[in-house]
Amino acid sequence: LSIDVDKPLHSVSPTLYGLMTEEINYSYDGGLYAEMVKNRTLRDGDWSQQDWLVMQNASAGAKFDQDKSTGPSEALNDSMKLTVTSASPSEPAGVRNMGYWGYPLRPNTTYHASIYAKTDASDLALHWNLVSNKTGRSVASAEVPAIGSDWKQYKVTLHTGAIEASEAYHLELTVTKPATLWFDLVSVFPPTYHDRENGNRVDMMEMLAGMHPAFLRFPGGNYLEGDHIKERYDWKKTIGPQVDRPTHPSPWNYHSSDGLGLLEFLEWCEDLHMKGVLAVYGGYSMKQEHVEPGKDLEPYVQDALDEIEYATGSTDTKWGAQRAKDGHPKPFDVPFVEVGNEDFFDRSGSYDGRFKQFYEAIKAKYPNIQIIATTPVKSVKPDVVDDHFYLSAEKYFDDVHHYDNTDRNGPKIFMGEYATMEGSPTGDFGAALGDAAWLTGVERNSDVVIMSSYAPLLVNVHPGGMQWHPDLIGYTGLSVYGSPSYYVLSLFAGNVGNEVPESSLSGAGPRIAYSVTTNKATGKVYLKIVNGAPTPQAIEIDLKGVGHVGSTAKVERLHAMSPVDTNTINDPKHIVPVASTLPVAGDNVKYTLGGYTFELIEFDTK
Ligand code: AHR
Repeated sequence: LSIDVDKPLHSVSPTLYGLMTEEINYSYDGGLYAEMVKNRTLRDGDWSQQDWLVMQNASAGAKFDQDKSTGPSEALNDSMKLTVTSASPSEPAGVRNMGYWGYPLRPNTTYHASIYAKTDASDLALHWNLVSNKTGRSVASAEVPAIGSDWKQYKVTLHTGAIEASEAYHLELTVTKPATLWFDLVSVFPPTYHDRENGNRVDMMEMLAGMHPAFLRFPGGNYLEGDHIKERYDWKKTIGPQVDRPTHPSPWNYHSSDGLGLLEFLEWCEDLHMKGVLAVYGGYSMKQEHVEPGKDLEPYVQDALDEIEYATGSTDTKWGAQRAKDGHPKPFDVPFVEVGNEDFFDRSGSYDGRFKQFYEAIKAKYPNIQIIATTPVKSVKPDVVDDHFYLSAEKYFDDVHHYDNTDRNGPKIFMGEYATMEGSPTGDFGAALGDAAWLTGVERNSDVVIMSSYAPLLVNVHPGGMQWHPDLIGYTGLSVYGSPSYYVLSLFAGNVGNEVPESSLSGAGPRIAYSVTTNKATGKVYLKIVNGAPTPQAIEIDLKGVGHVGSTAKVERLHAMSPVDTNTINDPKHIVPVASTLPVAGDNVKYTLGGYTFELIEFDTK
């Protein structure tokens, strides 16, 4: 392997590695979004799921129903009605919420809870308890002393003591005398990342930070489009107070609370220092419904302009002012807008016209925003085209030169979704090798491929939590782990120079792939090399054009005995990078790359 360190071919895109996200696999509800109450507005039409259960016994009678005639807001215009016919302090009656696979509680922790409620009884106290599923005993409690006769929000805090960290808890809301209680939007939050109210899980955000992401593509994916136009991601219904968000059905077969709405996506970007790649609804939904370009499309184009203004406009603008009212006066950094998602599925052929209409309107108002098309178009030249690849490891290895001959005068490429389709719920080691091989091709061509993101990013590994596999990061309520690919991506993004030098490889086996980047200022040379075959491979590295090479190189090695080896929720660190050093004497390095191995080697040439 010969590397001409002083002969740069092109620079490396500063936005090369990022994240793609959507509501799938309980990514937000029951995932990143830290809310613990499942079906908190009872808008998830499927009552058979038994998220809420009525509590009564021999001497306490209660009935639980949905009341469509009253609710706390225009958006939430119905509610849960609890009719208690008999109850006493020793025999309370009420409801329990079983959470997303339980309530993941930790010891000595404060939980912030709230509810909208009203009652027909006077001096009705509402008791909150977090209760152990195993013992039936309360481990944290609080009380709203008196619920009024008009809709109002009540807040309490619950503190756990020296309890066992476990998901085997639930929430109970009870009263101790006969009454009718209407309630809605019940919420319980653990501590969140950066202590944001209505925020994200700390452990999952830390995991994502470990990927050194430069951008976040949101909110989809299919989730942006919806099955039908009326089920699209209608961003205006996802902002403002939670009580003003009507919630919506998602294409991944569960209802979305929209608690993590547009502002929360943008704050997520801010928290992890990521640029926003905002996907705006482009007038096509997955069951082949589309809006014809022209007059009919105008309201959708206006919605996109408003959305961009909400994200990036000054507080003097209508939607910038709305953002300030929602708690964030400072505009966000959103340099990319994508129009739609996977519009090659639109059999009407309307995307060319739709894209042009969005493109021209957005460019006229925001000339600096880079506009991404989801498939090639002829009507205008998009700044960027989004490519999606879900392939086998073999195919990725075979196609590592995919972008070598891409037209450099055409649009830039965003590899907005890719994953080696091996392993479940998260990718296995063979998948990690496929992803690593593919990324070498992306990095080598990072003059034209300016962004990349794996998909899907997240999966709740509880039974019933997954709609798509493989995924990158798995979790339950209390634990989170990275697939071997997670470590590959983290190593790629965390160790990259700003230039790609000339290099060539000869005499290597068929399943060897590599990429090199350099940073002149620091003198670092980063070599990423994959061996997808079981047999070791002797490598001789020639570092040309360097005056000096440090006597050791840093190595991070990811290896497993078999491609089907993997990480799991119970064995989360089975395959992780192992750090070591490689002795280096001069500019010629001979060493052996093990079978089934991905390695990052960092040379110091300063
Ligand atoms: O990543 C899962 C799905 O794959 C995305 O929602 C969609 O864009 C693609 O088909």
